[in-house]
Amino acid sequence: MAVAAVAALLAALGGAVWLAARRFVGSGARRPPGAGEAGLMRGKTVLITGANSGLGRATAAALLRRGARVIMGCRDRARAEAAAGELRRDLRDGAPGADPGADPGGGAGELVVKELDLASLRSVRAFCRELLQEEPRLDVLINNAGVFQCPYTKTEDGFEMQFGVNHLGHFLLTNLLLGLLKSSAPSRIVVVSSKLYKYGDINFEDLNSEQSYNKSFCYSRSKLANILFTRELARRLEGTKVTVNVLHPGIVRTNLGRHIHIPLMVKPLFNLVSWAFFKTPVEGAQTTIYLASSPEVEGVSGKYFGDCKEEELLPIAMDESVARKLWDISEVMVGIVQ
Ligand SMILES: NC(=O)c1ccc[n+]([C@@H]2O[C@H](COP(=O)([O-])OP(=O)(O)OC[C@H]3O[C@@H](n4cnc5c(N)ncnc54)[C@H](OP(=O)(O)O)[C@@H]3O)[C@@H](O)[C@H]2O)c1
Ligand SMILES: *[C@@H]1O[C@H](CO)[C@@H](O)[C@H](O)[C@H]1NC(C)=O
Repeated sequence: MAVAAVAALLAALGGAVWLAARRFVGSGARRPPGAGEAGLMRGKTVLITGANSGLGRATAAALLRRGARVIMGCRDRARAEAAAGELRRDLRDGAPGADPGADPGGGAGELVVKELDLASLRSVRAFCRELLQEEPRLDVLINNAGVFQCPYTKTEDGFEMQFGVNHLGHFLLTNLLLGLLKSSAPSRIVVVSSKLYKYGDINFEDLNSEQSYNKSFCYSRSKLANILFTRELARRLEGTKVTVNVLHPGIVRTNLGRHIHIPLMVKPLFNLVSWAFFKTPVEGAQTTIYLASSPEVEGVSGKYFGDCKEEELLPIAMDESVARKLWDISEVMVGIVQ
């Protein structure tokens, strides 16, 4: 009896120590070489979608510290202003998160909040119109915002929400800003996808999931669309000095899982596992920061990255004819061509 209890206690303790070690040692995020330089982004303007939360917010913080003018494209002005206020305060107070790219001697950039709802083509157009009037340059566009496994909903324009926000909203945004990116070249586009693209497929006959809705499939499809979009865009941008790359951040503790219901009983276990195994937003954002700012990837385009290294893609994500067809259909869906 006593022996069993002691054994159980030891096992539990060992487990806890192992989890903690896993948490602090091996979460796999490499610090971006070169990006540690303070002032690396001085004079550059960066637009980040969904910059008020999770990965977008951590990316905004890092690029701000490296001296960039960071435009936060967010759907909720109040949430975005609150996040911007906290980021400015963190910067002033010497910030938690111990970012090695920090510029200790001031010289940090500035934050600008702008309303952008990717679930509304009208909002995307209005946002771009204003941005093109006000900003003389755009050096980096980071397509980061995303929705994950929401219940079936449609965007203002009747698109399935995940495909509409994660792919189509960003598709229109990028196309409307391409002229400015080209005139600011060398410039970069960074697309945040996910490893879950593997379970997707572009089913052209039901892009709005009107026949049947599977929320996991639709998320994966939207993230596959992000990769196909990147590859087709890279092809179209050859010779322009505008590069576009796509990444997966790993599994990161953010607000992305807001639509996933975890039973109350399981919650403590889930929290423990996510604390031990998931990346923090700062860790998860490293590949985005790397692609947005590191001199190492100057001129690199059309590639897929994880943990600041290039990775292989499955054939479904490299199919050029599917990428072209998706591009053509997306142009019609967002009204760029009739
Ligand atoms: N977390 C992970 O494990 C993980 C793994 C693989 C890929 N990713 C990708 O990483 C990206 C960032 O996600 P995250 O994990 O940082 O999640 P998050 O904390 O939920 O952040 C998502 C951001 O997207 C914004 N957003 C959602 N719908 C929008 C819309 N219609 N218009 C404009 N902005 C909208 C959110 O705004 P609100 O705050 O107003 O809702 C929020 O700022 C996503 O593209 C996601 O697919 C994440
Ligand atoms: C939903 O899609 C995922 C993969 O995208 C698949 O594994 C799962 O079986 C599908 N669920 C249903 C009910 O069809």
